[in-house]
Amino acid sequence: MASFFMFCLIFITLTVPQSKAQSTCTTQNFTNNKQYDHCNDLPQLGSYLHWNLDTVNNTVSIVFIAPPATPDGWVSWAINPTADGMVGSQALVGYKATNGNMAVDTYNISSYSDFTKGKLAFDVWDKTCEYQDGMIRIFATIELPVNGETTVNQVWQVGGRVSSGGFPAQHAFQAGNLASKGSLDLLSGEISGGGDGNSKTKKRNIHGILNAISWGILFPLGIMIARYLRTFPAADPTWFYIHGFLQVSAYAIGVAGWATGLKLGSESKGVRYSSHRNIGIALFCLATLQVLALFFRPKKGHKIRFYWNIYHHGTGYAVIVLGILNVFKGLQILSPAGNWKTAYIIVISSLGLTALVLEAFTWIIVFKRKSRKASKPSTNGQAKEHSTAP
Ligand SMILES: *[C@@H]1O[C@H](CO)[C@@H](O)[C@H](O)[C@H]1NC(C)=O
Repeated sequence: MASFFMFCLIFITLTVPQSKAQSTCTTQNFTNNKQYDHCNDLPQLGSYLHWNLDTVNNTVSIVFIAPPATPDGWVSWAINPTADGMVGSQALVGYKATNGNMAVDTYNISSYSDFTKGKLAFDVWDKTCEYQDGMIRIFATIELPVNGETTVNQVWQVGGRVSSGGFPAQHAFQAGNLASKGSLDLLSGEISGGGDGNSKTKKRNIHGILNAISWGILFPLGIMIARYLRTFPAADPTWFYIHGFLQVSAYAIGVAGWATGLKLGSESKGVRYSSHRNIGIALFCLATLQVLALFFRPKKGHKIRFYWNIYHHGTGYAVIVLGILNVFKGLQILSPAGNWKTAYIIVISSLGLTALVLEAFTWIIVFKRKSRKASKPSTNGQAKEHSTAP
């Protein structure tokens, strides 16, 4: 039954079309509550672009946000009016100057070796730069290179070192550094090129599905099996095996989901979801303790079994509460389109409702057994063994 349920669930989640996660850039805020009409998670180098287009004045105000390769590194965003790569780029470079202030310089990059600091092919105003949470933010207003042409070639880059003269040292040549370019439609907000922009979204969805199934559904289900099936003498020891199977599967899926979460966390510089992360780590520790506790389970009737039970049940309930809480926190971060949140609420409240009914049922059975036992004191063994007064 349990494995059937699990496979149904995995089947459903894999066949339902992947919902597109909301972009991270929409959660980024600016001082003075400055608002930008458009934003995009750029497909490489963990970078973001926000902008306001002014078609009347033929200008665009941009914010480019990217993590430098090292804290002393640089980030750059450019428009290339003549080609689609680095050569010909008219670049804004943000870095920390030797006096400790953040600075923005403009570079005319006419070849791979010829960088000229100075005027660009178009006017630039209001350049400023900030450092926040491991990310450099470049602000600027630029004139569109061609009047009325709102689609431009963009190029962006991050590097690890700046010379004492403020000159950016060569960047790395990883796949991400080479793919970070493409076209940008300032009017519609569409970007193209730049490689597989959805790989992060896909990873986040996989992380969400694994963890919702494990911590959010299988763990609570396994605990329900242990609590309610045990009331029936006929279900002994079947309940134990189902419980064990469910919890070990939940643990395996949960660890996989947990690992994808840590990976996502390490990749997302600048944007931290501390409480989601900390609850996740606590859950992993508690669940690992539960699995280990199996090996140290004292025999039934042993004098410390009572304390082991308290410990095992306490940890189990903590896992349920934290697990469900963290699924909701994750849903809030991912903000998936469609009805993922509603679907989870339906699943978890039906489990909750079932638990409520079974809980009442269990109490009734236990009371009946107790009263029967009280009227017939001779039959104790069997009933005592299974009467698990909640
Ligand atoms: C950029 O450099 C190229 C080559 O040196 C030059 O032809 C071009 O005029 C420069 N652009 C600006 C705006 O200075």
